[in-house]
Amino acid sequence: MADHPPFGPPGRSGTTFTRVTRPDDAPIRVHAPGRVNLIGEHTDYTGGLVFPMAIDRGTTLSGTRRHGGVILTSDDAPGRVEIALPFVGDPASLDPRWASFVAAVAAELGATDGIEGHLRSNIPAGAGLSSSAALMCAVALALGFDGTPLELARHARRAEHAATGVPTGIMDQYCIAAAVAGHAMLIDCDDLSIEQVPVPDDIDIVVRFIAHRTLRGSAYRDRVEECARAEDEIGPLRSATAYEVNSITDPTARKRARHVVHENQRVRDFAAALRRADYPTLGNLLRASHASLRDEFDTSTPHMDAAVDELNAIDGVFGARMTGGGFGGCVVAICEPGALQDGWVVTASAGARVLP
Ligand code: GLA
Repeated sequence: MADHPPFGPPGRSGTTFTRVTRPDDAPIRVHAPGRVNLIGEHTDYTGGLVFPMAIDRGTTLSGTRRHGGVILTSDDAPGRVEIALPFVGDPASLDPRWASFVAAVAAELGATDGIEGHLRSNIPAGAGLSSSAALMCAVALALGFDGTPLELARHARRAEHAATGVPTGIMDQYCIAAAVAGHAMLIDCDDLSIEQVPVPDDIDIVVRFIAHRTLRGSAYRDRVEECARAEDEIGPLRSATAYEVNSITDPTARKRARHVVHENQRVRDFAAALRRADYPTLGNLLRASHASLRDEFDTSTPHMDAAVDELNAIDGVFGARMTGGGFGGCVVAICEPGALQDGWVVTASAGARVLP
């Protein structure tokens, strides 16, 4: 596994989270950001390249230690979560729905000591901005997780699988665990190496919410299986050539593979263009990524296509595309500062951390 570059205090990429030792009744506060994926969509689960960025919207959990259980309420989710620890059972069956995520993390960490507290979040749920991964990373830190960002990401990903049954990749959790303020992350999902790439401050990155969706019950799992079928025919997509992709006999698998192979190249080109502040090229890559998700990967919706077309036609917008798992969620645009009035201008933020 590739080494991480050295970074600053806990919560930054490459450093270790250390268990917070405080008196039992001392308050604990943790924060985990959401993320927007700039480019590299539906590539993580075939060991491809992704380029997400943690954003200045997130989930904060405040509470105190509680022996033997978790009690949580939330500003933006209904119900009260009450879980006895150690958690045994099927987290996916819990009610309210968000209890599944909390229980799955607690089970994954083997936690016996819990927390009583309250969550506040300004990441809309079901928007493709990784609200669930942020929730799980926050809960893990509050439960005293210690280890590296990659270990945190792996725990949170396995917990997400247990809570939802959706075979998602590692991008969201890894970005949230390892982000560095002011940077987007070029992640190689094969060796899990990260390159932190500075985000210039003479562009705006704008996220527009289009429609709620959940990946449970969506065609996400089908896409994972279609990519696996392509790999059964030609081997790993991360190293496949266009010639090999064209030889895939299953037409659906061939389309999906074509997206993945081209998207991996777009990620490389995007990171290079960002480093040299070549914004028109960034924009073209965003447009091409969207067209591929729409036409080859079938994860866009007419509503998202219309939003992207509208953004691409606005003066000062370099380019836009759908972001996240798709089937709804958000679109992201890169533009000249102030070119877009509607939507959230997001800034590249630090990863999950224990607050002082
Ligand atoms: C969701 C998943 C990620 C990734 C994206 C699509 O966000 O959680 O692992 O597959 O969809 O790029």
